[in-house]
Amino acid sequence: MKKFNRTLVTTALPYANGPVHIGHLAGVYVPADIYVRYLRMKGEDVLLIGGSDEHGVPITIKAQKEGITPQDVVDKYHNIIKDSFEKFGISFDVYSRTSNDIHHETASEFFKTLHEKGEFIEKTSEQYYDAEANQFLADRYITGTCPHCKSEGAYGDQCESCGTSLNATDLIDPRSSITGNKPELKETKHWYLPLDKYEPYLKQWILEEHKEWKPNVYGQCKSWLDNGLHPRAVTRDLNWGVPVPVDGGEGKVLYVWFDAPIGYISATKEHTPDWEKYWKAEDSKMVHFIGKDNIVFHCIIFPSMLKAEGSYILPENVPSNEFLNLEGDKISTSRNWAVWLHEYLEEFPEKQDVLRYVLTANAPETKDNDFTWKDFQARNNNELVAILGNFVNRALVLTHKYYKGIVPEAGELNDFDKETLAEIPVIKANVEKNLETYHFREALKEAMNLARLGNKYLADTEPWKVIKTDEERVKTIMNICLQISTNLSTLMEPFLPFTAIRLREFLNIEALAWENIGENVIEAGHQINKATLLFEKIEDATIQEQVDKLLATKAANEAENKPVTPAKDNINFDDFMKMDVRVGTITEAEKVAKTKKLLKLTVDTGIDQRTVVSGIAEHYKPEEIIGKQVSILVNLEPKKLKGIESQGMILMAEDADGKLSFVSPDQAVKPGSEIR
Ligand code: MF3
Ligand code: ZN
Repeated sequence: MKKFNRTLVTTALPYANGPVHIGHLAGVYVPADIYVRYLRMKGEDVLLIGGSDEHGVPITIKAQKEGITPQDVVDKYHNIIKDSFEKFGISFDVYSRTSNDIHHETASEFFKTLHEKGEFIEKTSEQYYDAEANQFLADRYITGTCPHCKSEGAYGDQCESCGTSLNATDLIDPRSSITGNKPELKETKHWYLPLDKYEPYLKQWILEEHKEWKPNVYGQCKSWLDNGLHPRAVTRDLNWGVPVPVDGGEGKVLYVWFDAPIGYISATKEHTPDWEKYWKAEDSKMVHFIGKDNIVFHCIIFPSMLKAEGSYILPENVPSNEFLNLEGDKISTSRNWAVWLHEYLEEFPEKQDVLRYVLTANAPETKDNDFTWKDFQARNNNELVAILGNFVNRALVLTHKYYKGIVPEAGELNDFDKETLAEIPVIKANVEKNLETYHFREALKEAMNLARLGNKYLADTEPWKVIKTDEERVKTIMNICLQISTNLSTLMEPFLPFTAIRLREFLNIEALAWENIGENVIEAGHQINKATLLFEKIEDATIQEQVDKLLATKAANEAENKPVTPAKDNINFDDFMKMDVRVGTITEAEKVAKTKKLLKLTVDTGIDQRTVVSGIAEHYKPEEIIGKQVSILVNLEPKKLKGIESQGMILMAEDADGKLSFVSPDQAVKPGSEIR
């Protein structure tokens, strides 16, 4: 085993085109944070690097949609994202962004170095061009009919209906999404990194020397390598990004996947002038935390870039997770199918650790996993409250009750005491082994075993009974319970940092080092503080609110996707003229008793005052529609509804989710005016 003297931990830079959600946290940021907190507690030299990925086409598309600049888009989301991470205790040493000058310089220099070394191939190819907009079109800017499933609206890189990845030139009847025009093919020059050149090296490095990588990561790499690597374009025709800094690069930028990982380097530079030792010294260990859609970029492309440059180290591990789904469906920013971190923070104040716990306990480490609110509640109530919170609370409350909060001196230990204490270093070692091999779920489970051990110790020793017969013995029991509590505050810290702080406040102790776990660190005579509950039960109603919120999102998405009703068969003018539609004014309105939907209206039609029963009670209150001018079909045959004769029909516009609106003249007109 290689000996490392420092660790550089990077976390995938999230795109600054939307806020971050539980999938980000579970897949990347919580595991990375657990890992570095653990290393820091061991006194190791470690940096946690992060930042926002602010280039790329999705950001320009978002800007165009909202009528603002790409810089506006990234400014907005960078701040939201940064704030969410901070509040969840993701302990970045630096959280940077790729629109920073330091990043533009670093990425630009990197490209120039490779260019000067002759590491690129220059190639001309034909690409779609929008003559009216005077620009080349990124794949995402071209839509057309999918050649496979024939559905319309497929993108130049992928059909979202059937999931096939496409080349823009495969699309049938391609259209530019900027102007709607048919794009033309035009020649353009780009710089390519010949990945095939690094294939033999990568095969040796990954497939032979890193067999310990997680099977999902190793497997994806192997499949790429087995299929053979090809040169990849690292520049694009776009006006948002890092400009290509060499001759002929006008109007072109570095491909976002070329500049973004260099963002890790820029961020380290921003953090410390001593950045090079983390990136270049052989005794530095680099670990990339990412999601599974990022594997090829971090295991094949970025290493090839680093190799081409020549002076950098390569990652020691890339512990990528799979995806977290939400209530059975893929998390999606565009469909708003997510639990957004900034919303969680508002709806569950002070409960960051609950989410950190649930996302770790249920992390998608080896396969995609599902987040459900029921599971969130169950893990909170049955694990955090019932196991961890319960043990700590009993230990502290009994100490106050029997000893006014002063740690009692232990007497002679019996075998059971000794066995219990001997478990602590075993648990510590298990947690370590799992953390060091990136098995965070298992590590957390092991850490919780210490709380389980505490509960078992209390249940077996029953101090509340023994106190009546053997006061000396109870001192020993409570001393041991407080030792376990102290150890919990240290052992839980990487996972539940906010809880660890509160627990230390209760115990009235300073932060301890990882190596203190298992030592007797809370001394007899020490005064502890009054404690409150570490965790509280989450009620069904709270969970139901969250479920309802998701159901509403689902309904809104369905309405949005509902196609507009197709047009009916043609009619002739005479048919149309048979309908007598007038402007009328509502003069009275009241609810029809014992119905939910019906209002009884009196309408001044200019011809007469008549009664109309209308199914609009769920959309309008009687008092708010008096005086309203509406369209009324006056020659509809009268019909009895709930015993009231309805003479005519008020015309309503109905949208896809069933919302009704009156069709009213846009200025006051005389009742009885004909609508034709
Ligand atoms: N923005 C990318 C994503 O969200 C990740 C970029 S990681 C980096 O998938 F290495 F390129 F920075
Ligand atoms: Zn398709």
